[in-house]
Amino acid sequence: MTARVIDGVKLSATIREDVAQRAAKLATSGIQPGLAVILVGSDPASQVYVRNKVAACEKAGFHSVLEQYGAELTQEALLARVRALNEDPSIHGILVQLPLPAHIDSHLVIETIAAQKDVDGFHISNAGLLMTGKPLFIPCTPYGVMKMLESEQVQLRGAVAVVIGASNIVGKPMAMLLQSAGATVTICNSKTKDLSWHTRHADILVVATGKPKMIDASMVKPGAIVIDVGINRGADGKLCGDVDFESVKQVAGAITPVPGGVGPMTIAMLLVNTIEAAERTQQ
Ligand code: GUN
Repeated sequence: MTARVIDGVKLSATIREDVAQRAAKLATSGIQPGLAVILVGSDPASQVYVRNKVAACEKAGFHSVLEQYGAELTQEALLARVRALNEDPSIHGILVQLPLPAHIDSHLVIETIAAQKDVDGFHISNAGLLMTGKPLFIPCTPYGVMKMLESEQVQLRGAVAVVIGASNIVGKPMAMLLQSAGATVTICNSKTKDLSWHTRHADILVVATGKPKMIDASMVKPGAIVIDVGINRGADGKLCGDVDFESVKQVAGAITPVPGGVGPMTIAMLLVNTIEAAERTQQ
């Protein structure tokens, strides 16, 4: 049996169409959703990500602003820009692309973003609201993964879910969402002993490690749903995930490809969070 391939391009297109319709409706009240994206430094991968985010906004009829600064930007200057955007009524969402240069305290920057404009869902109050089951914004990548599981009608209640990676951006909020949906969740990290013991018990396996093709078929329970959050440049120069797609496809029940899986969903959910932020200004 080979796994169903969960098509993130197709699912994200449906979500983006819905967002565009909501934006058109808001326009009738004179509101255009606005997203500001700040990039500091010249990391090539971050440059591609932010360009894709801004392009998706424009396609959905949003107003979007991309502010790019050199790596020498001071922390104070960045905080001043964030404070100005907090006060700007044409901006409903603010995203500061991570990672930031080492001389800037990312936590401080995130805490300076107004929680009602924190469309990444990284602010401490948004992390707390997610943890207590009343989220204002769900972080985009785990939110996109939940939409993929929903589209596959995966039974989460009572399922065993294993998340590899414990970042604030993906692993921790992912685990929280799965747990809130009734799954029994284990979060593994780079120090986990006998990782494959854990992964082989997973009905749902979410991998976010940044290690190319680290999960092979021997580590996967037959029929499991495998979600690959990784995006890496393999030795052959091609993009690949954290999962060895060709081998795992032979045992999994469903699997996300890289590219074309979780990546486009992350962008779609950023648009969802931004339109929600804009809609809330009318309520
Ligand atoms: N860097 C990698 N993923 C993300 C994300 O979802 N948001 C931000 N702001 N930075 C990131």
